[in-house]
Amino acid sequence: MQATAIAQPNIALVKYWGKRDLKKNLPAVGSISVTLSDLETEMSVSLHAQQRHDSLSINGDNSDAMLPRVSKALDAIIGKKRPRATVASRSNFPIAAGLASSASAFAALAVAAANASGQSLSVEALSRHAGHASGSAARSLFGGFVELKNSADSINVSQLCAAEEWPLRVVVAITELGPKAVGSSEAMEISRKTSPFYDDWVARQEDDLDVARCAIESRDFDSLAAVSEHSCLKMHSVMWASRPPLVYWNASTMRCMQTVRALQDKGIKVFFTIDAGPQLKAVCESDHVDIVQEALHATDGVIDVICTSLGGGARQVASS
Ligand code: DP6
Repeated sequence: MQATAIAQPNIALVKYWGKRDLKKNLPAVGSISVTLSDLETEMSVSLHAQQRHDSLSINGDNSDAMLPRVSKALDAIIGKKRPRATVASRSNFPIAAGLASSASAFAALAVAAANASGQSLSVEALSRHAGHASGSAARSLFGGFVELKNSADSINVSQLCAAEEWPLRVVVAITELGPKAVGSSEAMEISRKTSPFYDDWVARQEDDLDVARCAIESRDFDSLAAVSEHSCLKMHSVMWASRPPLVYWNASTMRCMQTVRALQDKGIKVFFTIDAGPQLKAVCESDHVDIVQEALHATDGVIDVICTSLGGGARQVASS
């Protein structure tokens, strides 16, 4: 049986950083994100009764490094006694560079694996499977503005507002290519164990989530901008104060922040957010997208600029 699914990455506005249960990969905090369009990962899963091992290719190349994580996700979704799988992943954007490629990959994997094994699971169940593999992936099952809430020993993910209901744009400034030095899972544990700000970060998250939820409900751009930049800088403060320090920015990331500040001073409706990588994501009102794109493109050190809208959740595209 074979199935193919597509999912888009999402960008957190109120960030997830830290785990409360490593084994189940449960986040320490809730989070709110936007799912992107245009950038996407297509994932095919074929199950073969005669095959002895799982195999994984990423953009056409065999990937042994990611295979254990994919096999573990397949065990959880299909069951440990499942047939072995051939998994092929293709993304149309740089992977492992702080652009949430694991989010789109594991969201698409959850949908493709469930379909290939003939299961019809709810989107909530698929999002829990995706989140088990990668916390942020749980959010890519849904489109538009999405909230992940912690529940007793699980997560609940739901859409707050569809993409068409508040069609903001996202401009990604790529300042460096190549994989990040420390992966998110490892880095989160370093922060949990060593950052003096970690407990405060967890304790204050609900306040930021409340503000962001209200801002989204009332389409209040300025309020969403303030809480999103605050959450981003707070998360990076936790990272910077970790031992060893986790500094994902480069000089151009800083210059991009200054570019966004200069645009804000001119009244442009834009704000920034940065994940565990050096790329800056600028979220803006659609009328201002051209000026934001031009300004980031002209910023010293920016290699490329990707302009995108908000998109839908993960979905199946083929099966046989
Ligand atoms: C900075 O979802 O990649 O992008 O659960 O360990 O796979 P794992 O972590 P991951 O972490 C994302 C962290 C972030 C913030 C966010 O997306 O909320």
